[in-house]
Amino acid sequence: MEDTLENRIKQIERVVSTDVLLSQTQDEPQIKDYYIKNRLAYLLFHNSNGYLHMGISANDEYQEEDLEVAVNQINQEIHKNQYADVVELGSGRGANSFYLANKNPNLTIKAVDLSTRPLAKYTSLTNIEFFNRDFHNLDFIQDESVDLAFGIETFCHSDNKEKLFSEIYRILKPEGRLFIFDGYRITKTNLNKMVEKASVLVEHGMAVNKFEVTNDIESKATTAGFTLETKEDLSMNILPTVRRFEKMAQRFFNHPKLARLISSFLSEKFIRNSVAGYLMVPLIEQRVVGYYKHVFIK
Ligand SMILES: C[S@@+](CC[C@H](N)C(=O)[O-])C[C@H]1O[C@@H](n2cnc3c(N)ncnc32)[C@H](O)[C@@H]1O
Repeated sequence: MEDTLENRIKQIERVVSTDVLLSQTQDEPQIKDYYIKNRLAYLLFHNSNGYLHMGISANDEYQEEDLEVAVNQINQEIHKNQYADVVELGSGRGANSFYLANKNPNLTIKAVDLSTRPLAKYTSLTNIEFFNRDFHNLDFIQDESVDLAFGIETFCHSDNKEKLFSEIYRILKPEGRLFIFDGYRITKTNLNKMVEKASVLVEHGMAVNKFEVTNDIESKATTAGFTLETKEDLSMNILPTVRRFEKMAQRFFNHPKLARLISSFLSEKFIRNSVAGYLMVPLIEQRVVGYYKHVFIK
């Protein structure tokens, strides 16, 4: 069988119906449920340190250190400017905040997440405070009290970037910085039906309603008052991580009978993750979806 998006979707549909996934709105209850149900899967199949994001690889080969490239770049900015107060938005299992707090004992970090709790091993430091909250409302953080805010693969879940950016702008000190590493749609133009279907399956498969188009995120941030400092296309650098997910998904969907049996006792939220994993590589290669780093300054 020729390896096309259409055939991959057919293979998926031999195991699960895609109708519910395609039509479902990815709201906060869905996001929470997705991350709670996938806690164990991420630890078993991605990495045991609780990083819930893509590695940024320098070459074609994935290495576990690639998972720390984003947070390491943030660490360098903290050092360069001698920042003291940082906020992580969508902190997941706490791995990024722990990395920064551990390396910088004088830094104070507030780590905010809607659905997941930090891993027990990340709760020992006194310079991180975890908040189980929605990042659209940061009323527990004072105006102009933060040097740097960051979100790694988390703003993609927000359907209200206007509110999110205005809250971040409010809490940042003048000249404070916002770092974002995230997935996007590359173009606004109408896609053919199959590519659009695959894109929605990838988005909903990861509990995202719709990836923002990169230009739109930039205009929403600038409307909130930010200036774009740097933008970097990292789409090719995440491919080695995505290929790992693809391999696992391929093994699953290549054996439809076994996959149907496994699906009958695994969470549907876990299966949808494999749907995303199976379709993401071709969409990145065709430049339909991409991955970018943005740095904005107040
Ligand atoms: C892909 S994970 C990334 C976690 C972490 N940034 C990392 O790099 O490991 C996305 C995280 O965003 C969180 N999230 C999504 N929407 C949120 C919201 N409205 N408020 C706070 N956290 C949110 C999810 O609960 C999840 O833990």
